[in-house]
Amino acid sequence: MIYLDNGATSFPKPKGMVAAMEECILKYCGNPGRSGHTMSMKTGEEVYNARKKIARLFNIEQPERLIFTKNTTEALNMGLKGVLRPGDHVVTTSMEHNSVLRPLKALERQGVSQSVVRADREGFLSAAEIEKTLRPQTRLIVATAASNVTGTKLPLAEIGQLARKRGILFMVDGAQGAGSVDLDVKRLNIDLLAFPGHKGLLGPLGTGALYVSPDTPLAHTTEGGTGTESKSRIQPCEFPEGYEAGTLNAPAIIGLGYSADFVYRIGPEVIGKYEEELISWLDNCLDSMDFVERYGPSACRKTGISLINIRGMDAEEVTEILSRDYGIAVRGGFHCAGLAHKTIGTWDRGAVRISVGPFNTLRDMQQLADAIAEIGRRQNH
Ligand code: ALA
Repeated sequence: MIYLDNGATSFPKPKGMVAAMEECILKYCGNPGRSGHTMSMKTGEEVYNARKKIARLFNIEQPERLIFTKNTTEALNMGLKGVLRPGDHVVTTSMEHNSVLRPLKALERQGVSQSVVRADREGFLSAAEIEKTLRPQTRLIVATAASNVTGTKLPLAEIGQLARKRGILFMVDGAQGAGSVDLDVKRLNIDLLAFPGHKGLLGPLGTGALYVSPDTPLAHTTEGGTGTESKSRIQPCEFPEGYEAGTLNAPAIIGLGYSADFVYRIGPEVIGKYEEELISWLDNCLDSMDFVERYGPSACRKTGISLINIRGMDAEEVTEILSRDYGIAVRGGFHCAGLAHKTIGTWDRGAVRISVGPFNTLRDMQQLADAIAEIGRRQNH
């Protein structure tokens, strides 16, 4: 199969990741932070090594401020619900995934008000537009690093500066940017960063994390065993264990540590540039087909995504034909981001998303373009 659904999860993974996970499972996997025996302690050490490797990718000084979660959704929920209180106001954008919009909708019932800044048809918006919506009660600005629908990169540096200037917390959804976009939490003034392990960091599914800056107070959203202060019925506040109640998925986290190191050694900016080259080539090719409608900005202003429709065809139908007849994996439909589709004008029909990763090649782009050309000509002859 030619895998072009890296926006959903990356494939393939670095080979060494599997070896790291296998070694953990077969040789030493105890419960980290729970017991004094060597297996538990070795697992705890390796989980901490993974935490350090992941923190380094985002210029996080204190790795313990990184809380492991099962995915970005869990990290976003933990951050939004841990920070916002009744009476607070939050600003977000119309390009967000439902993992931001749905928790915010739920928080409305608890008295948290929100402003959603509408992006243009390519998915762009400016920090100035966000500034217009700020109120004295604004506690948080939450924005995606890059849209999972169009790949459009939002101006994080400007938004971060605005938040810092106004004393407002800044949270970034790194679901589509981590691993290919610079997400330096210090340079960008990011207070909370939610990201997946299994997409751009090339780690296993079921992994993600939330970074919380040392100045950001975070209420617990889950209580339980931490391996510390066992006689107390009060949830400990220490990072990370106070926020990682219950047993961690240590083999997956250790695998993620390997993959994050793999990404760090190549460099997210090198990966981002390579993906941009692939998408730039593909977009040029698709733009020459009169039956293809393409959405979103040019390759240099987005991550490795091309979003299209073929005239006269349903997005899901194109996706199914690509899989069945050509062995090509893409994602069609609404990508759990209905408001983003409304913003770019695809609310009625959705679209076909092609999302590349560092293991894709120009040959993959050529084969996809040939397949789209054949499907489109057959439909529109
Ligand atoms: N949120 C992931 C996507 O965009 C699953 O496909």
